[in-house]
Amino acid sequence: MQKHSVQVKVNGVTYVREVEARRLLADFIRDDLGLKGTHVGCEQGQCGCCTVLINGESIKSCLMLAVQADGCEITTIEGLTREGKLHPLQESFWENHGLQCGFCTPGQLMNALYLLKNNPDPSEVEIREGIAGNVCRCTGYVNIVKAIKGAAVKMRQETA
Ligand code: FES
Ligand code: FES
Repeated sequence: MQKHSVQVKVNGVTYVREVEARRLLADFIRDDLGLKGTHVGCEQGQCGCCTVLINGESIKSCLMLAVQADGCEITTIEGLTREGKLHPLQESFWENHGLQCGFCTPGQLMNALYLLKNNPDPSEVEIREGIAGNVCRCTGYVNIVKAIKGAAVKMRQETA
């Protein structure tokens, strides 16, 4: 099978790998780069647990091929901590019990990061609309919404 060279910058680190044209980006991130924090649930674009940022856009990585990400900058859940310190979103999910089993959590956080970068002070309705593509089977979403609200406050304080 013919392979293609893919170069990506993930969480600030450049990786070059040879991949088959059909390799999914989600599998590339998890298995070729070893970044297992990006989860794979449905592999059909339904659950959102594979969400990463690609050039700043929130993308479900099971819907994209690795070769399509050639030359892109990717942020995964592993890139959220800064100098060993939790990101405000991580702190707020912890403080507000925004998770139970945690399977959806990496995707929730990455999508929430995108949401808050584009809307630093979202209403509850805007948060619920923003995370509509991220399915959680455990929490009922109430604490996820609270956690994103809390993170928005922290992130606004950081930039004030
Ligand atoms: S695994 Fe990608 S959306 Fe479900
Ligand atoms: S915390 Fe279990 S699926 Fe969301």
